[in-house]
Amino acid sequence: MAPSYDPFDPAFRADPYPVYAALRAEQPVAHHPAGPGRPEFWALTRFADVWDAVRAPETFSSASGLTFFPDEIGSLGLPPTLVMLDPPVQTRLRGLIGRAFTPRRIAELEQKIRGFAKERIAELTARAADGETPDLHQVLSAPIPVFVLADLLGVPERDRASFTPWVSALTEIQNDGFAVDLNDGESTGLHAVTEMMGYFSDAIAHRRTCEHDDLIGALVAAELDGQRLTDWDILGFCFVMVAGGSDTTASLISHAITLLTEAPAQREVLLAEPERIGTSVLEFLRLESSVQALARTTTREVSVAGVTIPARAKVMMVYGSANRDPEEFGPDAHLLDVRRSPDRHLAFSSGPHFCIGSHAARLQATVALQELLAAHPRITADADAGVRHDSYFVRAWKSLPCGDLSA
Ligand code: HEM
Repeated sequence: MAPSYDPFDPAFRADPYPVYAALRAEQPVAHHPAGPGRPEFWALTRFADVWDAVRAPETFSSASGLTFFPDEIGSLGLPPTLVMLDPPVQTRLRGLIGRAFTPRRIAELEQKIRGFAKERIAELTARAADGETPDLHQVLSAPIPVFVLADLLGVPERDRASFTPWVSALTEIQNDGFAVDLNDGESTGLHAVTEMMGYFSDAIAHRRTCEHDDLIGALVAAELDGQRLTDWDILGFCFVMVAGGSDTTASLISHAITLLTEAPAQREVLLAEPERIGTSVLEFLRLESSVQALARTTTREVSVAGVTIPARAKVMMVYGSANRDPEEFGPDAHLLDVRRSPDRHLAFSSGPHFCIGSHAARLQATVALQELLAAHPRITADADAGVRHDSYFVRAWKSLPCGDLSA
């Protein structure tokens, strides 16, 4: 009997990989009866099963939310976001958003990201020179996506002091599965998210009155087949960008350094062949997938690998396991290989919900690693002293002290 997939168990979260391996081998479609505080659910852990399921939204729907619990965003009083709609409504919305959120808009940010990364690395270096053990995650990885999101969303310099705590608050609420009490007037997290949504509502209203050259301005102006985005559509997209694009990207940067710390020979390959940094980012993400698992809800009874799953069941797509499946990636699937070019993996999902921000995430991580390895080629991270977010669906750092910066 395979061990249980129990993302509520801190021991499982600390190292889920042995459990994933056992589940893939023995119980690839695992059923979990309802328990205290958690509903009944199924978990898919093999690459092929997750791949097929996420590409079949007519059977595995996103419209009832992505956590174990139904309608988590709606319960916050927020608009339905792209990620929680099914085709064809999602396809139309994504097409319109794609008119404004273009790869070109992202590529244009490269020099700004590079400049900002250099500043943060200088700060790391200065702190180390002062005898401190700098926190790689806090000083470098986490600020980069916050900077990029603020820039993309047109948040001016004077408002950025508010923006950073808003992003942190939303990350915390999200990592708790949106389990907030809406009647809790004291909830600082809820207060921060409400403030942020108010800020973006005002920004949308302002851009409706005059043209603006930022992403919100472009979303307001976007048109496809005579259709336009509503304020709710744009607000939902701002929300999902901040919710999905922050600690995921930051943790990719930090995980790259924990993985290189564990595999010194792979670091030497990257230092000798720095042109591989761009594709190695996908390999880091394959091995340590920031999004470990998200749910779908079945619209009908369905059989997966011989197991019958009933209609209206919550089914976890365990991306973190699928990405280490030896059936897909070979017998060394659990090992870092920076020369691997994993063009088909599930860290950004696949099918209609394939991460629309993947190019933004890849660019940020590539630039950050290029600059960091140029400045400190043998930087290490002390994963044992690090602190992770307490979450069942993201594998993300809160804090990660540097090991050695000096070499
Ligand atoms: C390493 C960083 C990132 C990872 C691992 C990641 C992962 C994912 C995954 C797995 C999904 C699919 C969700 C599902 O299965 O239902 C997704 C969707 C999405 N992501 Fe990302 N993401 C990252 C960065 C970003 C960034 C930087 C942005 C925006 C700036 C972003 C915006 C979105 C949006 C809007 C969707 C919804 C797409 C849709 O439903 O059509 N993500 N992401």
